[in-house]
Amino acid sequence: MQLNRRQILQSSIAAAAIVAAPSFTRLAKAADGFFELTAGKSTKKLYREDAPASELWTYNQSSPGPEIRVKRGERVKVRLINNLEEATSIHWHGIRIDNKMDGVSNLTQKPVQPGEAFEYDFVVPDAGTYWYHAHNRSWNQVARGLYGTLIVEEDEPEFDADHDLVLVVDDWRLNKKGQLDVESIGDLRDWSHGGRLGNWLTVNGGSDAKFRLNAGEAYRLRFINTANARVFEIDPNRFDAKVLAYDGQALPEPSTLEYAPLLIGTAQRVDFLVVPKAGRNFDIEEVTGDKPYPFINFEVVDKKSPILQMPALALNNLPEPDLANTKNYKLHMSGGAMGGGGDIIYKGKKLKDDEYRTTGQVWAFNGVANIADDPFFNVERGKTVTVETFNDTAFTHAMHVHGHHFRIIARGGSTIDEGMPWRDTFLVGPGQKTKISFVADNPGKWLFHCHMLEHAAAGMNTWFEVV
Ligand code: C2O
Ligand code: CU
Repeated sequence: MQLNRRQILQSSIAAAAIVAAPSFTRLAKAADGFFELTAGKSTKKLYREDAPASELWTYNQSSPGPEIRVKRGERVKVRLINNLEEATSIHWHGIRIDNKMDGVSNLTQKPVQPGEAFEYDFVVPDAGTYWYHAHNRSWNQVARGLYGTLIVEEDEPEFDADHDLVLVVDDWRLNKKGQLDVESIGDLRDWSHGGRLGNWLTVNGGSDAKFRLNAGEAYRLRFINTANARVFEIDPNRFDAKVLAYDGQALPEPSTLEYAPLLIGTAQRVDFLVVPKAGRNFDIEEVTGDKPYPFINFEVVDKKSPILQMPALALNNLPEPDLANTKNYKLHMSGGAMGGGGDIIYKGKKLKDDEYRTTGQVWAFNGVANIADDPFFNVERGKTVTVETFNDTAFTHAMHVHGHHFRIIARGGSTIDEGMPWRDTFLVGPGQKTKISFVADNPGKWLFHCHMLEHAAAGMNTWFEVV
């Protein structure tokens, strides 16, 4: 696969001396104003230096793909060229986008066939940390590396390039040689359990990530979970971080978490604020296990620079749900290993006991696996919608609403310490109920699914229509 001649890759983001994690290139526009992303195969070392390379599926021969960085309100045009042997499409995760441009194969567009191209053209209404990824057979294509970052800058960014770090965290499943384990992609055991969990973390595509920061200066760390299934447990208080934003949407003020750990589900983003102290190197650690596992290392150098005041991000303009006047819907989530939950209807027929082997369908929303002909609900544009999800399964799920951000308004079993934040993806634990509300202000057909990509493939998909 050849890079297109007109495609000029600007050299990478200047950001705070990156010592060991490769950063990624920023994408420049072609002469006709389009960014060009070519999906194709390329090789890359995922594990340490002495391990063999893996064959990945990538955008412009890199995973993460090149960063697209634009300004709030800008019109973004992207030409996707498909050099793969499988149809594909690109979803712009978290962007409140024009429905035709949402990139969901077989719902908002036809998948782009091998050798073909598709032009995306949309406006980005909100500043924040977003990402893009393949949305056809995502469980396969994202697991192989088809994703990248989409950063929308505020009108007047609080952080300059040296103080704005993107941390794309992925969880790969490697085989004994240290190569991507492709044999197990699509394994039904993963589909019916916790999804495809890996055994090796990369940050911006590299291993053993290390950054050098100046003491006393404020940094924005944009953490993006691009894993197929892993939920990260991070304790921001262990590195004195405050939270600036969730899923692209700023909090009114940087906030200190009163509880820990913070769970960062698949597709979720958290922007952290850190002001390193002289002589105090620190790590970001995954704290799930008995012992914290550091996977991003920060070396702090004493620059004796002035302490900046704590910057808060500018808020986006989101329509506030009218909770006194809402349409209410219930979503019962069932199935999976160790779960009961009753019958599953798939393509209009009740599945028999062993039919999960041939269909791969093991999860259901309101008893139905995967996209039905009829929407979960349809609602008039401008109405407030409240969805109560009940996770009647033995696993955690990361539920994503397309085309809208919502507020989490109630969560069974725990208070919402983070104060009804805006999100585009929410976690719901086994047995838990969660209520979200949003104004359905964006016309079209929108997917609502679990972002653990194996769960989505195995049934956890539905859609709603705003008319
Ligand atoms: Cu991030 Cu339906 O996707
Ligand atoms: Cu799930």
